Amino acid sequence: MLINLIAGNSSEDLAKKISKKLKANFVNSELKVFPDGESKITLRGKLSKSKTVVVQSIYPPVDSNLIQALSLVSKAKDYSTEVVVVIPYLGYARQDREFLPGEIVTMKVLGQLFKGSGASKIIVIDIHSEIGLKHFKIKTENISAISDLAKYFKKFNLKDPLIVSPDQGGKERAKEFANKFESEYIALVKKRDRKTGKVEIKTEGLDKVIGRDVILVDDMISTGGSIIKATKFLKKQKCKQVFVACTHALLVDDAENKIKKAGVEKIVSTNSIPGKTSIVDISSTIAKAIK
Ligand code: R5P
Repeated sequence: MLINLIAGNSSEDLAKKISKKLKANFVNSELKVFPDGESKITLRGKLSKSKTVVVQSIYPPVDSNLIQALSLVSKAKDYSTEVVVVIPYLGYARQDREFLPGEIVTMKVLGQLFKGSGASKIIVIDIHSEIGLKHFKIKTENISAISDLAKYFKKFNLKDPLIVSPDQGGKERAKEFANKFESEYIALVKKRDRKTGKVEIKTEGLDKVIGRDVILVDDMISTGGSIIKATKFLKKQKCKQVFVACTHALLVDDAENKIKKAGVEKIVSTNSIPGKTSIVDISSTIAKAIK
């Protein structure tokens, strides 16, 4: 049966690519933002009474892109038998537990909102931690873009690179990347001050870094703080070149320049968030998960 695919404003290009691969009934959406900041969305096309896929990434402006995603789901629910929401980058994913007393677990709120709007299933890509998805009382799937990223890095013909996760939380991602690359991997020990947000690398000296090219693999870059700390640490350990592979490059403010200044040769990210570094297309990986 022909499925519908609605492109949210934040993911139009990616949605078009996914739709082509699925041979779906592509329905674009038009966004108007009123002077007071309210979003008004109009669907530009007709939905058939079948399954509908909504594609909308939730990157900055996070709250606007979130309300737009919820609005699209609600509209789709009126016409469809089933609504699958693809959220390539899910803002708020890091707010998945109460780190300090009194903090709100916003991922729980998101779970309630998507369920209440009519979503049957949520698909995300390389979510910060799967703990966040436990708050969704509907079906969820976290798919990986690591293999797409690793494939891209083969082009660089690096000799015996070391794959490094900037923190222990990203160890499995580094392992997956290293497996595709047939190389060695390590995970640094990073500590983040929950009050100030400052990060510090606690790993002791690492001989295996000396003279080797390094690929830092992370789920996301926001301010660049984590990548900069890791790069400075690895340079101090006398590594050769540092490359960065990440799924979601938010690169807020001047993050890209700061990362380059710290000595990173190249940042490669996916089109979960459109931008200068978003070179790796993940539409095939997403289309496979929807089928
Ligand atoms: C943290 O655990 C994540 O995996 C990222 O490393 C981090 O959230 C990136 O944020 P920033 O670029 O601001 O350090």
